Amino acid sequence: MGNDKKTVLEMKNVKTICLITIAWVFSCAVSAEEASIELATERGCFVCHTIHQDEDVMRPLAPSYQEIAERYRGRDDAFEYLVNRVLHGTLYAEQNWTDEISMRFMPPNVNTSRLEAGEMTDWILNLPEDKALRDRLAQHEAMVILSTRSGCASCHLMDASPDKRLMPLAPAYREIAARYRDEDGAQEMLTRSILQGTRSATKIWPNVNMQFMPPSVALKREDAEKLAGWILELE
Ligand code: HEC
Ligand code: HEC
Repeated sequence: MGNDKKTVLEMKNVKTICLITIAWVFSCAVSAEEASIELATERGCFVCHTIHQDEDVMRPLAPSYQEIAERYRGRDDAFEYLVNRVLHGTLYAEQNWTDEISMRFMPPNVNTSRLEAGEMTDWILNLPEDKALRDRLAQHEAMVILSTRSGCASCHLMDASPDKRLMPLAPAYREIAARYRDEDGAQEMLTRSILQGTRSATKIWPNVNMQFMPPSVALKREDAEKLAGWILELE
């Protein structure tokens, strides 16, 4: 009798642990995905590639990562094969996508280490088939690209450097999120900071090297709003 009760309790515990683990694995999956997107951005892969196929573009420069995943997912040698393609480029090798794209070959990615190429290839091959996660990642991708194109990335990093001796130029996006996430009206306030700059304010972030953020005069208001909303939701 006593033993049965104990077993039920144990099973309940196991169930709770499982639920927590599932939630944790999901959030780990999201942050691992985001880290890969950030690495691919830094290595310039998105100059030619997108993650998802854009239906409006007839002949993209290069295949989307989702298409690459679909083509190679079932192949045993896919990982090794693609890592070498990424590192060495495809100029002196067979062309696999010629009819679907407008570039003739991928140049060698000389700024990418074998380890990084492996990380990105693994990520590409395991791109989720789950629609909700896919939409969320497409949104993250679009915002990383907007932030890079708008020049924000020349001052802001996504994450604070783990080396505390280095004083960064500007606060990292995830630090900004942690500071304002729960404040009412934060999105509007940050939109204004982004558009007008922070020169007239007293210094908001004491531990950064630059005195103030210059105004972003070329940025559309709706894009500033989107960037502010995205930054606030970073975990
Ligand atoms: C200058 C444009 C360009 C850049 C930058 C670029 N690629 Fe490519 N990539 C291509 C083209 C074009 C192809 C298609 C080659 C073909 O037809 O076989 C391709 C193909 C691929 C493939 C599939 C290879 C195959 O044989 O099917 C992978 C994986 C890939 N790229 C990953 C990356 C990664 C990761 C980066 C960044 C480190 C990157 N690419 C940077 C243009 C580019
Ligand atoms: C020339 C460097 C530079 C550029 C480019 C830049 N920022 Fe900043 N940003 C800063 C600095 C420095 C601060 C901190 C200002 C302070 O401490 O008062 C800051 C602060 C911020 C803040 C927090 C504002 C607050 O009220 O706490 C946000 C959000 C932000 N930047 C987003 C962006 C976005 C989005 C872009 C691109 C459109 C951008 N920044 C471009 C340097 C820059």
